[in-house]
Amino acid sequence: MDKKLSLFPVSTQIIQDKLTIGGCDVRTLADQHGTPLYLYDRADLDSAAGLYRRFLGESWPGRWSVTYAGKAFLCASIAQWAQGQGFIVDCTGAGEIGIAVSAGLPREHIVVHGVNKSAEDLQAAIAHAGTIVVDNLSELGRLAKLAKSDSLPELWLRFQPGSSVDTHAYTQTGHSSSKFGMSREQILEAVKICRENDLPLKGLHFHQGSQFRDPEPLGDGIDKALDLAKEIGFKDDWHLSPGGGWGIAYHEDDLPQPPLEMYVRFVAENIKAGCKKRGLTLPHLHLEPGRSLVAKAGVAVYRVGTVKQTAGKTWLLIDGGMADNPRHALYGAKYSCLTVEKATGSPTQVVSIGGPFCESGDVLIEQIPLRAVEEDELIAIPVSGAYHLSMASNYNGARRPAVLLLDNGQARVMQSRETTRDLTRRDGPENA
Ligand SMILES: Cc1ncc(COP(=O)(O)O)c(C=O)c1O
Repeated sequence: MDKKLSLFPVSTQIIQDKLTIGGCDVRTLADQHGTPLYLYDRADLDSAAGLYRRFLGESWPGRWSVTYAGKAFLCASIAQWAQGQGFIVDCTGAGEIGIAVSAGLPREHIVVHGVNKSAEDLQAAIAHAGTIVVDNLSELGRLAKLAKSDSLPELWLRFQPGSSVDTHAYTQTGHSSSKFGMSREQILEAVKICRENDLPLKGLHFHQGSQFRDPEPLGDGIDKALDLAKEIGFKDDWHLSPGGGWGIAYHEDDLPQPPLEMYVRFVAENIKAGCKKRGLTLPHLHLEPGRSLVAKAGVAVYRVGTVKQTAGKTWLLIDGGMADNPRHALYGAKYSCLTVEKATGSPTQVVSIGGPFCESGDVLIEQIPLRAVEEDELIAIPVSGAYHLSMASNYNGARRPAVLLLDNGQARVMQSRETTRDLTRRDGPENA
């Protein structure tokens, strides 16, 4: 039970056998706000942010920033929370930029990513961002044209080091056949274009993948990026981002969350040593975490609608699934769960937990030991804070769940539940 509970946010308690998070009773929240329901624990968010600040502060002697990868989960409240932590927000494209702007983030708190930025994305980035991370030479050509009429934010070039971290193939991004970033030769060509067009080139970025536990492959990315920095001739006031992607534990059978300190120190020590070896001044160091900041703070709560026996399986069919959390369907991601009441009950059966959507792949958990669960009971799935709602869909007319921020016994709605009206809002006027 302790191992399972450690997957839940720091403030989680079981009081009289009932799950409470952020000082709030989860059953009461589900009854008030409906299910599926997403809960974020403010204390857990703050604690993860504090660890990044602490380890960067302790291990990096120069300037540093944490950039929250908004792709993990972005809404106005989370953007404001990130700004409040002193973090920059990484936005992919005009949509996420729009969310950051609606949250009141100033230019210097917005950095823009994207592998194929549209004209709209570039215009939004120029209007609102402090930094654009340029993915490729075509994009740079477009920016060079735009620079004739607009002044550009600072530019970093996204480098493809030719090596990825050890993770699921779908979340590896640094290998040479990856769609992300530029090779060494392309980066040098990009530098030439920047100089010829007087573009504000300020740094390099690379990201070798997500949900990794072994920092070792970052050493290769760092070495190659520093070689490039030397060739480019970055001197004072230059920026280096080795991306994000530090892994977390999703299930009690996983190894525990690898220590953040190990990752931050590995990056800092390797860049320090690499700069010294090459006679480079230390860059402004940026780390770009998403899931390791917000995943564990999030819990998804579902209501069991049907308990069904099929050949060799007991199914708990719940009211959410791949439409709010596509990660099992996408990557075979493995989750755990607790019942919200009688939470400490000993397992008496093995069940599979499936959603209401018309796909056999709409399963959140394959085979988990659980106590006998009755229809109308609630279950809570931990580590639900990253890449669930940001990848959510309206499949089968699903309405995206409400999202609450829990803080010291108070629950605040960060996002309300979508309504059927939201589903028809974009229909043509002839159908209105
Ligand atoms: C460029 C970039 N930076 C940062 C991240 C954050 O990764 P994670 O949420 O695993 O930390 C991603 C994730 O895909 C990314 O593509």
